Amino acid sequence: MERGKTKGKRRGREGKERIWEWVVGLKGMGMGVPRKVLITGVSQGLGRALALELAKRGHTVIGCARSQDKITSLQSEISSHDPSNHLLLTVDVRLDSSVEELARLVTETKGAPDIIVNNAGSINKNNKIWEVPAEEFSAVIDTNVKGTANILRHFLPPMIENKRGIIVNLSSGWGRSAAAEVAPYCASKWAIEGLTRSVAKELPVGMAIVALSPGVVNTDMLQSCFGTSASLYQTPEAWAPKAATMILNLTMEDNGASLTV
Ligand SMILES: NC(=O)c1ccc[n+]([C@@H]2O[C@H](COP(=O)([O-])OP(=O)(O)OC[C@H]3O[C@@H](n4cnc5c(N)ncnc54)[C@H](OP(=O)(O)O)[C@@H]3O)[C@@H](O)[C@H]2O)c1
Repeated sequence: MERGKTKGKRRGREGKERIWEWVVGLKGMGMGVPRKVLITGVSQGLGRALALELAKRGHTVIGCARSQDKITSLQSEISSHDPSNHLLLTVDVRLDSSVEELARLVTETKGAPDIIVNNAGSINKNNKIWEVPAEEFSAVIDTNVKGTANILRHFLPPMIENKRGIIVNLSSGWGRSAAAEVAPYCASKWAIEGLTRSVAKELPVGMAIVALSPGVVNTDMLQSCFGTSASLYQTPEAWAPKAATMILNLTMEDNGASLTV
């Protein structure tokens, strides 16, 4: 009798432990509370794969990019995961007024995001700096640096009001090292690292901003600078689960960090 009771009690305890391990495991994967995640540049590459991964895990995606046709295609794919939740819009992050309008719409309909992923980016065609046309240099800086600043300008105030939120600025290995023929891109990503550390000092307790290098992933951007050897690297779909778990597990302790997926 006694032995049976002890066994029963032990089983109960083991069962509870297993449930707890399962909950911790899900939390580790970022499956806890559903979050509202704003991602810029969701029409292809890393942004698109991350949007689909987060939607699959039950989070709400607010996404933007410039290509209407690709946004429409993502809309139909993401719709298999709670369609009413997500908000995908055509926005050029280089235009401060468009980002302001996006922030107004998002905060009115969804409230402030819990997480922002400043992912939209562009790279110059491989060229020595003296061969990069001025407009091309500007386009890289306008997207990668000023686009990120535009998002921060309009989305940080409502997040600061809540004293809650995580901001992830996509950096690069080339935001911490350098290579020939991509000077505009390197300059933009070194700027992202500096901007991130500076803004980290401005945020209230409870928030965090990090610079995140995604590693090397086979996207259109990588094909532009690596050529055919881009195909040797991981796909965005293989990258997204790792990145999603990492992003969902960021806390205020990470404020100001330079991280890598
Ligand atoms: N792939 C890698 O190995 C790698 C390595 C290091 C860092 N990164 C960084 O990771 C991020 C994503 O790169 P990726 O490889 O996925 O590049 P990608 O395939 O070229 O995708 C870039 C995304 O940004 C969007 N975008 C570009 N300009 C925009 C603008 N003005 N407004 C709104 N959206 C804009 C593009 O959409 P539209 O053209 O439709 O606007 C597209 O969805 C970038 O910040 C990049 O620097 C990538």
